[in-house]
Amino acid sequence: MEQLVDSYGRHIKSMRISITDKCNFRCTYCMPAEGLPWLKKPEILTYEEIVRISRVAVDMGIEQIRLTGGEPLVRRDVPDLVYQLHQLPGLRSLSLTTNGVLLKDQARPLAEAGLTRINVSLDSLVREKFAKLTRRDQLDRVLIGLEELEKYPSIHPIKVNAVAMRDFTEEEVLDFVQLARRKAYVVRWIEFMPLDADQIWRKEDILTGAELKAIIEAKYGPLVPVRGGDPSETARRYTFSDGIGEIGFINPVSEPFCSTCDRIRLTADGQLRTCLFATEETDLRAVVRSDADDEQLAQTIRRAVWHKELKHYIGDKRFKRANRSMSMIGG
Ligand code: GTP
Ligand code: 5AD
Ligand code: SF4
Repeated sequence: MEQLVDSYGRHIKSMRISITDKCNFRCTYCMPAEGLPWLKKPEILTYEEIVRISRVAVDMGIEQIRLTGGEPLVRRDVPDLVYQLHQLPGLRSLSLTTNGVLLKDQARPLAEAGLTRINVSLDSLVREKFAKLTRRDQLDRVLIGLEELEKYPSIHPIKVNAVAMRDFTEEEVLDFVQLARRKAYVVRWIEFMPLDADQIWRKEDILTGAELKAIIEAKYGPLVPVRGGDPSETARRYTFSDGIGEIGFINPVSEPFCSTCDRIRLTADGQLRTCLFATEETDLRAVVRSDADDEQLAQTIRRAVWHKELKHYIGDKRFKRANRSMSMIGG
């Protein structure tokens, strides 16, 4: 099938699929304490519909699929979906972004179903801070979930993502570094972006990757870049002079990576988003629930991709908030 390319010549290779808008945490930078009005079941794509869209997308050159949420593992039978997606010929990587709280029981079935990579969100290693930020006192369960993952080497690498926020993250940076050096986890910090439902984001809250790197280098000396990654990668990757451990900085605000973006996103209710900050979407649910055939579905996806946004305009007068908050998009 004709490949997916946008009007700026970017080839689209990665699709992130949100499988639920619900979450069992209430991170302050993402969701209000009382939650959000959840989608109703008939609005949400069935696994069959997700697999059909994925098959067509993989035929057009999508090589990586990542399942996200909300918290993806609150949806039932995620390993069944993983198993079906894993069968798609041409798919090179099948991963999950999770808050980790359900991994104790889910790690094994996910590994057995064919999950190849995983990213666990973890913003603090201090119980009280974790509980305040997520509004759930469940740090222990997340750490147990991470340990459970280590038993399944077919899921590799295990990445830990921490959203970096000023006056919150600095004091724990070196503890996270130690985690990356002690355990087989790649630790990455993400710059805080204006995607929170409560709109608490302020420019002053951003803690940049460069600032974090300086804190780390003050203790460990110059970090050593890890080369050879994919040009579309979100993270700048580093190891230490002794080669032990890997860390990374995802700097969408201070060093935007839109020019090499190869990503599209599918929301739980079947809307295709060609940018994290998109203000418009393409309704694939309507297409899969009509009598359209796969070629028509492919055409709809191709047309949407052609109009992919050039970049986000965070920090610029032209910036517009996305039409949904993070938990509805999936990161
Ligand atoms: P890997 O393939 O494992 O490197 O994953 P990833 O970094 O693409 O996925 P992950 O879910 O860990 O994403 C980490 C965070 O990076 C996301 O939650 C977003 O905050 C940010 N991010 C990912 N893709 C984009 C993007 O296209 N634009 C922007 N601005 N931020 C992104
Ligand atoms: N800015 C940056 N990252 C965010 N995430 C959620 N909200 C934001 C935000 N406003 C992260 C989560 C998770 C991933 C899906 O996105 O912590 O790691
Ligand atoms: Fe849930 Fe993720 Fe939003 Fe936290 S950031 S409330 S874990 S969807």
